[in-house]
Amino acid sequence: MLQFNDVDSLRAWRATHPQVAFVPTMGNLHAGHLSLVALAQAHAPQVLVSLFVNPLQFGPNEDFARYPRTLDADLALLHTAGVSAVFIPEVTALYPTEPTCFIEPSFLADELCGQHRPGHFRGVCTVVMKLFHLAQPTVACFGKKDYQQLTLIRRMSEEFLMPIQILGGETERAADGLALSSRNQYLSLTERGIAPQLYANLQTIARHLNHGHRDYIELETAASKALNHAGWQVDYVSIRERDLRLPAQTSQQFVVLAAAKLGNTRLIDNVEAG
Ligand code: PAJ
Repeated sequence: MLQFNDVDSLRAWRATHPQVAFVPTMGNLHAGHLSLVALAQAHAPQVLVSLFVNPLQFGPNEDFARYPRTLDADLALLHTAGVSAVFIPEVTALYPTEPTCFIEPSFLADELCGQHRPGHFRGVCTVVMKLFHLAQPTVACFGKKDYQQLTLIRRMSEEFLMPIQILGGETERAADGLALSSRNQYLSLTERGIAPQLYANLQTIARHLNHGHRDYIELETAASKALNHAGWQVDYVSIRERDLRLPAQTSQQFVVLAAAKLGNTRLIDNVEAG
């Protein structure tokens, strides 16, 4: 497995490999990330993974400084998974000067998680655009776990006419349903016991939708109330079309998304319905 820390060595490698599938990550890898690696491996002979905690996508009061950094364990997992190359830039390699140019995603970036994390998706899209320019992948894999992120990156890639196939990987979960996330390790034992309720409430809504229930506000409100009652602080529970537009009474296919805090830990999840 090759390791690159600087832009030039990555570019030189890319020049000799015409088909690269790319999995961008912030490290602290778990089975969710590895499922994206497997998806990437099924789509190209070379798989490149980046490990970079992107300061631009964290708000001033968020967890950039304490985001778990576990480089040695990450490299061991990627090596075992048979990844071709890893890109591990310093902040100065991707942001050589104070940035003055950004990707400003559409109004969609101000809704759902964007409403509670101002500037977050601008930071995500900007770093992903930089990484796409460097890696020039033919395929790039993102998890449905971060459904809004996947949707915005797909739109960005289409609107900028980038020749990159964007693939969405299914969410990997613990046995009790909790979506795997680097942030799960912030949970206390009690919080970890409550955490699967987020997915359970989304599944309840999905069942109602599948049975033809169409009072979206009633379903969202009931789930929010149940979660708040169980000790969560709900940011949102939202039923959307698969492209994240608001649904109509005639809609048939949905994604139900939620974000809620347990103590200081903010968890997100979603399920598709219909
Ligand atoms: P990170 O949180 O490390 O996630 C990297 C990729 O793994 C994302 O595409 C995410 O959706 C996916 N992922 C996370 N948990 C998953 C799970 N339980 N099952 C399946 N896939 C999962 O998302 C980011 O990093 C950053 O925003 C990034 C895109 C790298 C830009 O900085």
